[in-house]
Amino acid sequence: QGVLWVSAADGRIKGYDWQVSDDSSFQSFLTSHGWTDANASSKKNARSSTKVQVVESNDERNEFFFPGFIDTHIHAPQFPNIGLFGSSGLLDWLNEYTYPVESSFGSKSDPNNQETDPKDTPPEGLRVYDEVVARTLAHGTTCASYFATIHVPATNALAALCHSHGQRAFIGRVCMDNKDECPSYYIDQSAEEGFNATKSTIDYIQTLDPNGTLINPIITPRFAPSCSNHSLDGLGKLAASYSPPLHIQTHIAETIDEIDLVHQLFPEAASYADVYDKAHLLTNRTILAHGVHLTKDERTLIRERGSKVAHCPASNSALGSGLAPVRVLLDEGLTVGLGTDVSGGYSPSILEVARQACLVSRLLQYSAEYQAMTGNAVSDGSEKLSVEDSLYLATRGGAAVVDMADDIGGFDKGMIWDAQLIELGAVTNSTVSPLDDASASVLAHRSVAESGPVGNVDLFGDETWQEQIQKWMWSGDDRNVKNVWVQGRLVHTRD
Ligand code: GUN
Ligand code: FE
Repeated sequence: QGVLWVSAADGRIKGYDWQVSDDSSFQSFLTSHGWTDANASSKKNARSSTKVQVVESNDERNEFFFPGFIDTHIHAPQFPNIGLFGSSGLLDWLNEYTYPVESSFGSKSDPNNQETDPKDTPPEGLRVYDEVVARTLAHGTTCASYFATIHVPATNALAALCHSHGQRAFIGRVCMDNKDECPSYYIDQSAEEGFNATKSTIDYIQTLDPNGTLINPIITPRFAPSCSNHSLDGLGKLAASYSPPLHIQTHIAETIDEIDLVHQLFPEAASYADVYDKAHLLTNRTILAHGVHLTKDERTLIRERGSKVAHCPASNSALGSGLAPVRVLLDEGLTVGLGTDVSGGYSPSILEVARQACLVSRLLQYSAEYQAMTGNAVSDGSEKLSVEDSLYLATRGGAAVVDMADDIGGFDKGMIWDAQLIELGAVTNSTVSPLDDASASVLAHRSVAESGPVGNVDLFGDETWQEQIQKWMWSGDDRNVKNVWVQGRLVHTRD
């Protein structure tokens, strides 16, 4: 009943004749029961050769296409540390867990080797990066903004792996040169060395993908405490020296201790956000991770500069950083997307982050900080994110954060086909054999899945599609992701 045309030339949606949901803010996805790829058997070859992908409905199945997820903040080298954070807060966690694992991505024979060849990356590092890209794709992440490490070869390797797997990505070499705050074993020897190393990763990435179709560099000062003023200034200038200006990403106002440290280190600045603003790092292509404890003035400044916020609720809860008031940010006109923040965040899944965003928004009213922010007004419930809100942040919101709102995050005609096929389970009305008369009368009212649930999502057959989406968000995982496409190319098929 349905046909979809995706151009092989540019991966954009040319047309379809199926129903697109236009439920208020939730316009972003296609629904209907059971869309399935008519060319199932030839899918593996669909990467380069198919001109037109034909999609037909199959009412026996509960499948739907959904826009690919956008992870606006993830640290690829921290992937091996997923689940390891003890009870430490941010600053201790960085020293205890994070800097050690990141430092292991340097060339073993010469840790200061900043040649551009990705092959100078330690084999374990290559394996980790390959796994990060494969696993995030398997969770439906079609676009990610990555922090790499300070190492040029490994940063280039991450870019090359995103490119070869076919994942849309922004890849940033991390800059950190403050000798008082960074460990001696993991630091740029000088701000200049950081600039030069960063430039060589930019050259490498732009040579690999000259049009920036899939992969793009992103300027990445780690966060204010790890950078000198000279380094921050230089990175702001470096971003602006490209045409168009490069994207920028960093962290902001993640924890109270971190904010106190910034005030100590940058006494001349009016606020944490002002540190970045003075260095021209707050642009309309800047992604600020966390923003848990931003002041009103900082939020205003960020909005005026057009910078975006990556909301990372799984990480904020895991590290005890705080509860970010997302609805306040949105109501004040800021652009917000979701980030896993692996491995502050314990999961590479944006679906998990969407669910955590809902949970955190429901706890917000009990936070003293939030109560003070709202003048102790009794909660009217407006701070709570709905499933639709959260999935919006995971797709269209993220697209706006990476400055691609016209291209990805939805299925409007002319947008790029970055999509996932979600499968919730085959539900039929087959009868069950009752154990006794009492259970028979109950069971008769239910539809029973013939082949059982897919993953963790149980459907009983009478759910509306909105209810199916809700069940998917609360209980789904990578087992529900059957296929993933980026730029019209099939890049993942569930085993
Ligand atoms: N602030 C500076 N570096 C980091 C990091 O690696 N993760 C998180 N969550 N916050 C940071
Ligand atoms: Fe982070």
